[in-house]
Amino acid sequence: MDTSSIVILDFGSQYTQLIARGIREQNVFSVLLPCTASIEEIRAQKPLGIVLSGGPCSVYDADAPAADPAILSLGLPTLGICYGLQFITHHLGGRVRSAQKREYGHAEVSVVDSATPLFRDIPASLNVWMSHGDEAVELPPGFHLTAKTSNAVAGIANPERQIWAVQFHPEVHHTKQGTTLLRNFLFNICKATPDWTPEHFIQSTVVAIREKVGEGHAICALSGGVDSSVAAVLVQRAIGDRLTCVFVNNGVLRKNEFFKVQENLREKLGLNLVAVDASARFLGKLEGVTDPETKRKIIGNEFIAVFDDEAHRIAQQAGGVEWLVQGTLYPDVIESASVKGPSQTIKSHHNVGGLPETMKLKLIEPLRDLFKDEVRRIGRDLRMPDDILQRQPFPGPGLAVRILGEVTPERVALLQEADDIVVTEIKRAGLYQQIWQSFAVLLPVKSVGVMGDQRTYAYTCAIRAVHSEDGMTADWVPLPYQVLKTISNRIVNEIPGINRVVYDVTSKPPGTIEWE
Ligand code: XMP
Repeated sequence: MDTSSIVILDFGSQYTQLIARGIREQNVFSVLLPCTASIEEIRAQKPLGIVLSGGPCSVYDADAPAADPAILSLGLPTLGICYGLQFITHHLGGRVRSAQKREYGHAEVSVVDSATPLFRDIPASLNVWMSHGDEAVELPPGFHLTAKTSNAVAGIANPERQIWAVQFHPEVHHTKQGTTLLRNFLFNICKATPDWTPEHFIQSTVVAIREKVGEGHAICALSGGVDSSVAAVLVQRAIGDRLTCVFVNNGVLRKNEFFKVQENLREKLGLNLVAVDASARFLGKLEGVTDPETKRKIIGNEFIAVFDDEAHRIAQQAGGVEWLVQGTLYPDVIESASVKGPSQTIKSHHNVGGLPETMKLKLIEPLRDLFKDEVRRIGRDLRMPDDILQRQPFPGPGLAVRILGEVTPERVALLQEADDIVVTEIKRAGLYQQIWQSFAVLLPVKSVGVMGDQRTYAYTCAIRAVHSEDGMTADWVPLPYQVLKTISNRIVNEIPGINRVVYDVTSKPPGTIEWE
């Protein structure tokens, strides 16, 4: 993307992504780089300014992140946050020590130098969010104190060197004046222009894709979810029908989803779409399989095989296909470049975007720079329907990871009905968009019930609803009793084959969101 940016160097704080998003919310582009990025990598982003994030280490730790202190001599406006302040203090000749009392949570800060441009329009006393063990005790030469708490340094500055730093976290919403502070850094200090808008993004992305692809052809695997659909619409704007989208029925989609998604994508969005019903192929491969990881692997591999067949067919018709569109998002990009290293695999995710390199196609990833909420904003500007943009996440292996034990056509049909009732009732209660995911799980457990005067012996269904920011952690949602009651009544009365409904009250961790 040809635009200037603010570079955020990530020292490993849990809040670093919030800095990037806070800056982008001001319509200024921001890029997250690991703190170990070279000076050339930083310069390549054409930065107007640099933010040094917080981090879990002490500057004296043996494994403190090995950032190059030369980043403090680039002559660019620099804002240090938390560990960033300590890094600046330590490397420019001040002194940091382990605090007598660790500060964590809300704190009162007094502004000492109200003339500092970082604190313009900020009251003399403000409530902030702190999270640190170390503290600056001697300021580096040329720096002065700009803010303090009752017992520690809370802000320092050296306007000549264009370096500002705060010990608290302006990016966390508990810091009430945080947005004003970030705006001061962006607009008063870095002189940034707020031109990073959805419109600007759409225009420049479409032009860039057109240049990149030339007269070539592209293919794209669609799931009906937000990311792959927005990516496809952007590419279609650039190259029209030279993009062919493939939507595969893997036999474990939701009720009527194979048809609904086609209608949305083909009729509402005008995408050039090939819909492949491969359900028999998938369900055949899943026969007799009960192990969760094996199920995931089978679905992932089968998906690749089906998509590969289609890609060959499309290439024959089009006289060659060179490009593959993927809906990769920014968090995936920064996760793989993170200073924290790869995390342990709990589940092998299958994502319709994630196809293997063996396909020898060149990648178009139009959403690589965006967070999820930004993708929705772009989608809205592209006039995409709300039922695509607001859809709750749905896993690549679909209902298969919500049918415990063997996946059979009979069980898929049962779960499709239960899932449909859950979604309908959650929407009816006006809760759908407030909840990260809400769904039904079919357990391979039969129990005794009574209906009318008849004894029943049928399956159990679990209901799960969670709040989450990104799927990494989640809290179970205390759904209103009335909603639970309606869901339970409808499932047991309308679906022969299920006679008991239970509610999952496990958060993540220790539970995962999906049951498999
Ligand atoms: P877990 O179950 O790991 O799920 O807590 C976290 C989030 O990821 C979704 N999920 C997947 N998404 N392919 C996907 O595209 C997958 O294989 C997959 N497995 C889980 C899950 O729905 C939740 O939002």
